[in-house]
Amino acid sequence: MPLGQFVPVEGSVPTTPHLAPTPPRPLSVPPEYFAQEQPEQPGQPEQATAPEAPAHRTAEPTPDPAAAPGVPAVPAQELPAQADATPGAEPEADPEPGTLQDAGQQPAATVPAPRDGERPTAAPAGTAPAPVDAAEDGSPFPSAPETTDPDEPMHAPHPAGPTAPASQTEQPAAAALIEADGPEDLSTPAEPADADGLPQALLLDDDPEAGPDSAEPLAPAADASVEPPAPGYADAEREAVLRVMRERRDIRNGFRSDPIPHEVLLRVLEAAHTAPSVGHSQPWDFVVIKSADTRRTMHELAQRQREAYAKSLPKGRAKQFKELKIEAILDTPVNIVVTADPTRGGRHTLGRHTQPQMAPYSSALAVENLWLAARAEGLGVGWVSFFDEREMVRALGLPEHLEVVAYLCVGYVDEFPDEPELMQAGWSKRRPLSWVVHEETYGRRALPGEDPHDLLAETVGNIRPLDAKALGEAWERQKRMTKPAGALGMLEIISAQLSGLSRMCPPPIPEPAAVAIFAGDHGVHAQGVTSWPQEVTGQMVANFLGGGAVCNAFANQVGAEVCVIDVGVASELPATPGLLPRKVRAGTADMTTGPALTREEVKAAIEVGIETARDLVAAGNKALLTGEMGIANTTASAALISVYTDTDPAEVTGRGTGINDEMHARKVEVVRRALELHQPDPADPVGVLAAIGGLEHAALVGLLLGGASLRTPVILDGVSAGAAALVARAIAPEVLAACIAGHRSAEPGHVAALNKLGLRPLVDLDLRLGEGTGALLALPVVQSAARAMHEVATFDSAGVTEK
Ligand SMILES: Cc1cc2nc3c(=O)[nH]c(=O)nc-3n(C[C@H](O)[C@H](O)[C@H](O)COP(=O)(O)O)c2cc1C
Repeated sequence: MPLGQFVPVEGSVPTTPHLAPTPPRPLSVPPEYFAQEQPEQPGQPEQATAPEAPAHRTAEPTPDPAAAPGVPAVPAQELPAQADATPGAEPEADPEPGTLQDAGQQPAATVPAPRDGERPTAAPAGTAPAPVDAAEDGSPFPSAPETTDPDEPMHAPHPAGPTAPASQTEQPAAAALIEADGPEDLSTPAEPADADGLPQALLLDDDPEAGPDSAEPLAPAADASVEPPAPGYADAEREAVLRVMRERRDIRNGFRSDPIPHEVLLRVLEAAHTAPSVGHSQPWDFVVIKSADTRRTMHELAQRQREAYAKSLPKGRAKQFKELKIEAILDTPVNIVVTADPTRGGRHTLGRHTQPQMAPYSSALAVENLWLAARAEGLGVGWVSFFDEREMVRALGLPEHLEVVAYLCVGYVDEFPDEPELMQAGWSKRRPLSWVVHEETYGRRALPGEDPHDLLAETVGNIRPLDAKALGEAWERQKRMTKPAGALGMLEIISAQLSGLSRMCPPPIPEPAAVAIFAGDHGVHAQGVTSWPQEVTGQMVANFLGGGAVCNAFANQVGAEVCVIDVGVASELPATPGLLPRKVRAGTADMTTGPALTREEVKAAIEVGIETARDLVAAGNKALLTGEMGIANTTASAALISVYTDTDPAEVTGRGTGINDEMHARKVEVVRRALELHQPDPADPVGVLAAIGGLEHAALVGLLLGGASLRTPVILDGVSAGAAALVARAIAPEVLAACIAGHRSAEPGHVAALNKLGLRPLVDLDLRLGEGTGALLALPVVQSAARAMHEVATFDSAGVTEK
């Protein structure tokens, strides 16, 4: 097999349940699902021996001989009846035995792909399956119920199976799903899971005392003689206050040179001066600058910081940043410097004693007051923080003991945008309120008046199939693009998937992108399954953060951000920029002697993954890449894959970082023993992870679910990501709508996982490193697929004659 050639992989991209719409619905999870306690954990594993030279792998994955190289690998798992009914449709492969059924998925009613503008037809009577529930599909999480609306397309255009010959008329397809409308940004997530349904059932907290009832605030005793509380504002006044907060904007564009009348500026400064302050110390001063010379000096300082920041950015971000205006120092008639004097109020300022930062906090509140009052006056304000604070103090001739809290550009504006300018530029997204409100304890998320919602259940409930309309538009567009139909092979499938996922055609170009590298240790290391010592996990994390690993080089090349998450490294890691400290526990327990994790730990690690997806997407990333680091984690990956592919451990256990025959035989035996001990039930994905998984596997599951729920593509790396995807699919089959297999790893278990998932890898270069390296290499391929949809002319627009 020549290097760099695609290896056709059996299976299909998203599976049948993705083809059905998924209206918001209650999830039905048995209450005992998360409540089961695991036995006590054994102690930490011992460390293994010194590293050996890597050995060559012996087990070559066997490509599907039926699938010709070069033919767009098209997912299988279509219903042949419908495909046959479509004129011009190629015969489609039978569902991979065991894939659909094993996952407990009901065959969805399918409808021919819309072609040549033809309207998709409804599923033939009797083919629409009943909604799949937990009891039927063996999954504790529900699959999408099917539509019964005959006007609604039931089945998006879909690829033929891997054995189907390519055809000019054939519609390549990836995941295919239907859904009409849904949330377009983070602030309007799909309806949360019904509070009467699953979320309660998913709650781990089974302490009845901790429930919302017991958390009722102590109400004052009703006493008719007691005066009513002080009145709030009348409705219109209250609305005015709330309106000014809603409509306050940070402005950088569209300033006018009109002078600000003294009385207006005075009102604004008065408002600032009424801010609350620690110990009523009123630590602020306001330096009002109009001088063009001073503003020019400040502009030069900001310019230098801007350049330094731009240099620190990954390429994908830097491109975006270049387009952003980040200050309006020269465009505004007035600049205001707001300082904090940490000595004001003397030595005994009330409240500042323990928290000296309360002084600048107080000045920041003055800034907010100023900002709101300015908005009410029709004045725009832009806060500039691109300054070296000490340099600024000197340039402005401020007393050295002052801290600069804010540098504000103020002036009249053409308009106030509805949304933050950074959101409009695609730099960031607004986080919904429900993400940040916790009831009583951190992590117990509930808006006032609502029951607490479980993060996992909420995430699963927000995962939707691909949007059929956008998917259909993508295929129509591909047919009109100036190239032979199907000539972009797998890229056509990817771009259609991106369209269906984003509900947009052409789809957003998945840039910027971030690789999330979850790091964790494994108790099974004690069984001598690798030649690398366990402390290498923590050392490699330091290497990622220092920029010296392969993932850093690849990330630099493709312009992606590297985000490292300690979800379970055995050693203590020092706080370092770029490291997210999210340790659930310091490594798993040895799966050969007991469960690796408790169910609660699994759930906590899944939540780490979900939260990471949320953070990275809210920060403006348009693609997530999986990465992982954990010495001995290929052992856990092999065990997971063995369970979910129903394959003997000998077939899916590889040589990881490179081990000799003797160690490999031991590793196979270790996996076998663990599986015999736990007899994991694939229908209980959290239980499977608890028995034999790793903390990074659980976090990867969360990242996949989180990405899918935010309609953001997730590019999978190697064997650990494959194992995690199998588990994630058992939780929510539609998760595959967001998944793209970045590469095929040299680990035999990875091929088994990809086959089971029906995903075709984009890159096949015998990598077996992890760290997200394979996913990073695939990123430009995915970006190219989307970019082609934007930039390639159509036959009509370019005046090219069609065949
Ligand atoms: C502490 C602070 C510093 C800021 N610094 C800058 C800055 O240097 N440049 C800039 O363009 N915006 C700056 N902003 C504005 C934010 O980007 C803006 O508040 C955010 O995008 C939300 O938009 P909105 O204020 O219009 O709601 C700053 C805001 C705050 C609160």
